[in-house]
Amino acid sequence: MKTVKYLLAEDQMPTAWYNIQADLPTPPPPVLHPGTGQPIGPQDLAPLFPMALIMQEVSTERFIEIPEEVQTIYRQWRPTPLFRARRLEQALDTPARIYYKYEGVSPAGSHKPNTAVAQAYYNQQEGVKRLVTETGAGQWGSSLAMAGAFFGIEVLVFMVKVSYQQKPYRRALMEAYGARVVASPSEETNAGRAILAEHPDSTGSLGIAISEAVEVAAQDPEAKYSLGSVLNHVLLHQTVIGEEALAQMEMAGDYPDIIVGCTGGGSNFSGISFPFIGKKLRGERNVRVVAVEPAACPSMTRGKYAYDFGDTAKLTPLVKMHTLGHDFVPPGIHAGGLRYHGMAPLVSHLLELGVIEAINVQQLETFAAGIQFARAEGIIPAPEANHAVAGAIREALRCKEEGVSRAILFNLCGHGHFDMQAYTDYMAGKLRDYEYSEKEVAMALAGLPSVE
Ligand SMILES: Cc1ncc(COP(=O)(O)O)c(C=O)c1O
Repeated sequence: MKTVKYLLAEDQMPTAWYNIQADLPTPPPPVLHPGTGQPIGPQDLAPLFPMALIMQEVSTERFIEIPEEVQTIYRQWRPTPLFRARRLEQALDTPARIYYKYEGVSPAGSHKPNTAVAQAYYNQQEGVKRLVTETGAGQWGSSLAMAGAFFGIEVLVFMVKVSYQQKPYRRALMEAYGARVVASPSEETNAGRAILAEHPDSTGSLGIAISEAVEVAAQDPEAKYSLGSVLNHVLLHQTVIGEEALAQMEMAGDYPDIIVGCTGGGSNFSGISFPFIGKKLRGERNVRVVAVEPAACPSMTRGKYAYDFGDTAKLTPLVKMHTLGHDFVPPGIHAGGLRYHGMAPLVSHLLELGVIEAINVQQLETFAAGIQFARAEGIIPAPEANHAVAGAIREALRCKEEGVSRAILFNLCGHGHFDMQAYTDYMAGKLRDYEYSEKEVAMALAGLPSVE
């Protein structure tokens, strides 16, 4: 019998997250205070985050225990399956061994609940009543809305306007979980009003929605801010994916030669790859790791490694990352969750160190890959996940060209059940590729703060 799914029992679920900061050859550059330009301390972040998460942000412990309450909720859908994509291999006629970890089995439909549940737990422990956040595609907002419902915390979501319009059912899901959803830019914040005054037709961006959420959270003593990607603690919580995948690859009697993940802010990519990269950094086992980003939002492949703000209104601390500039507004491509101007500092640092690689892929190639995948494997991927599928297919076809069999592991980070409008548009020939000119990239980078 040829195994298709490698399944772990509930009691085989990892009980600790893996912290890559323990294994880095050099630490990432410090986070700076936007006013003083000096490294920030835990107290500077206290208005926005509970102390437990701030301490995880700077921890260098290799493993951090997953609280029992979080493990209990994880078991609603974890461990998630690892598939051997035998039917896709056949369709591609490739000697490659393709594996994918499927995070779309979570109730919200993606990997995002892995951190949403943890964040809601630590906030509840510290008495927080409300969480304020932003969402691009709606996956993150749905996940935090669900986690808020589990822990009795109110959730307010600023949803990027273009997604709010494109994805009414994502909004309905968030509301069903009990969250309030506001289209961003909105009239509810100074940041939103300022953008609307200048650009009344603004379709929004993650950078703008973050500004709105941070502003509301900072002004409400009972509220905190929650971010679905980019920060070290978010990446940490996602490592449960890769920890499970390590055990599942062992069940398969195999080990990945290549790991592929899509990158918006970097969390699902880090989740699947960091436990394997840890082994590489410790000299135990080598692996090639490829991050795939949209050509329409190419922070790692065409951006600059520089200090920048995480948001448009410059309310956040300055972090060193690959960035297209905090006032970059990407075109309205369908992979909403990948349209962030920056990259997680830890992922950026690994790219600078040469530990990982990055490529960008055009929208049409990603949808073609997603459809080929769906016809072979049955699962319709989220448009974000299509970038990973496209990256994996490229590698599998390279194996065919070279006549070698490599093991390729990719993260199928979410399903596309709420994204069918995007597929409809693709099949109707309405989607376009988007090529940035050098001039546009330079313009977007012109507003970077001067720090060095
Ligand atoms: C399904 C899915 N994949 C990927 C992303 C991108 O985020 P990250 O790079 O943090 O995984 C998102 C973000 O909303 C998402 O919804």
